[in-house]
Amino acid sequence: MSARIHDFLVGKLDREGSETLQRQIYRIIQDSILQGRLPVDFKMPSTRSLADQLQISRITVSLAYERLTEEGYLYSRPGSGTYVADTLPQTYLPAKKVEEAEYTAALLSRRGLAITSRVTGLAKAGGAFVPGVADADLFPFHIWKRLQNRYFRKNHMELTGYVEHGGYRRLREALASYLYASRAVKCRSEQIIITMGTHQSLDLVAKLLSDPGDSALIETPCHWGAPVVFSAAGLAAQPIAIDSDGACLPELANDANPRFAFITPSHQYPTGNIMSLQRRREWLAFSDARNIWILEDDYDSEFRYDTEPLPSLQGLDTKHRVIYLGTFSKVAFPGLRLSYLVVPEPLADAFSKGMTQLYRPGLLPVQAAMADFIQEGHFASHIRKMRTVYAGRRSLLQKSLLQQFGSKIQFSEGSAGIHLAVTVTPKGIAREMIRRAPEFGLTLRGSYQLDATVDDDLLVLGYGGIKEPDIAPAVQRLRQLYDSITAA
Ligand SMILES: Cc1ncc(COP(=O)(O)O)c(C=O)c1O
Repeated sequence: MSARIHDFLVGKLDREGSETLQRQIYRIIQDSILQGRLPVDFKMPSTRSLADQLQISRITVSLAYERLTEEGYLYSRPGSGTYVADTLPQTYLPAKKVEEAEYTAALLSRRGLAITSRVTGLAKAGGAFVPGVADADLFPFHIWKRLQNRYFRKNHMELTGYVEHGGYRRLREALASYLYASRAVKCRSEQIIITMGTHQSLDLVAKLLSDPGDSALIETPCHWGAPVVFSAAGLAAQPIAIDSDGACLPELANDANPRFAFITPSHQYPTGNIMSLQRRREWLAFSDARNIWILEDDYDSEFRYDTEPLPSLQGLDTKHRVIYLGTFSKVAFPGLRLSYLVVPEPLADAFSKGMTQLYRPGLLPVQAAMADFIQEGHFASHIRKMRTVYAGRRSLLQKSLLQQFGSKIQFSEGSAGIHLAVTVTPKGIAREMIRRAPEFGLTLRGSYQLDATVDDDLLVLGYGGIKEPDIAPAVQRLRQLYDSITAA
């Protein structure tokens, strides 16, 4: 079977050409499926054996398989392997599928094609290790329902219209006090802009503070959303490296003029590094000297399990260069779509107007309920409870990983958040584990690198969505997955 694929690949690969080998493998397999030469349910060779036969790196084959799987050409079968998917009836599949893809591509703008071509953020069903998922099961819905009922009624007609630039006033006030107490963020409530998710926060920043053709610095690895939003706004992304002190200061040419630097100083996503105080000061001086806005994404520092968090960069900023981003996705749940920006005072009015001009925001009754949730102390007690729950899961996950993997994995730094980043050996295996995870009932993610060909061997293991009794069995399946690849 595998000889068949190998045969037609080997004759067609152009090793000297400008098209990458990964792209060529993707295209040749895709064409073969569309033309019916690889039938439905055909078992694909393992990435290792195909890489060996073609004498190329396994990562190259893995990336091509990954993309074909994401796009629905291939699928994984538990405990078995990778197969050609039954995308369309075979008789008319070739022409129809090609036609469809071409038709959709023709409908989209260049920007639309770029946004939809490397899809990374589709919500997967829950399960062991999905990163970024909070345990909504433990959210106090009985309290939330009571608060919500207060505002979805006729005696709160002020919440039914278009008003409230920048968000519901009481929520902005509640957040200003909370952020000062918990993160040393210094702001007036007018500087807080309520948004519907971090993507919208970034989009607003990009639209109001940059023009198409500008550039943005982005730490890498990073949250996948930032590059998508920035590139859709016409910005070119420039990667910033990270080290154990957090995002490194880039060396910029004198005439380079990036508009922003997107960084996660409190808890680098996903490695967990915490930016040192010294590095924070350097970033502030750098941003002031080069007129760069720092976008400080502080997405989960409510959950720290060892030391107190360092004060936010925003709290140290005396030059109005830091824009602070927060979200309720981790402390409550992502489906709320409630997040916020803290902008420097001189930008407050423009951001509030920009929010209305661009998005005509709403959900005022939900914002009112959240204001009460914070002011009546439910928010703080939920965070306290979840901190204990997540700390327990984290330490159990570490213990189980150590038992099952020993020195084959290394934990990243920091003790915070709701995911654990681990480096796995041997080189290249992490990607293969991610690809084959569904066969073992797992959902695995790696880190998002701006350059997709960089493989940092990282697995990002979320523990927000997995209960303690399920952790050890899931890690056992992780080990079986690992073994099935190393034995192949
Ligand atoms: C680094 C980082 N920032 C922010 C967020 C929150 O995004 P949102 O507010 O859209 O849920 C996430 C979610 O996973 C994240 O990983």
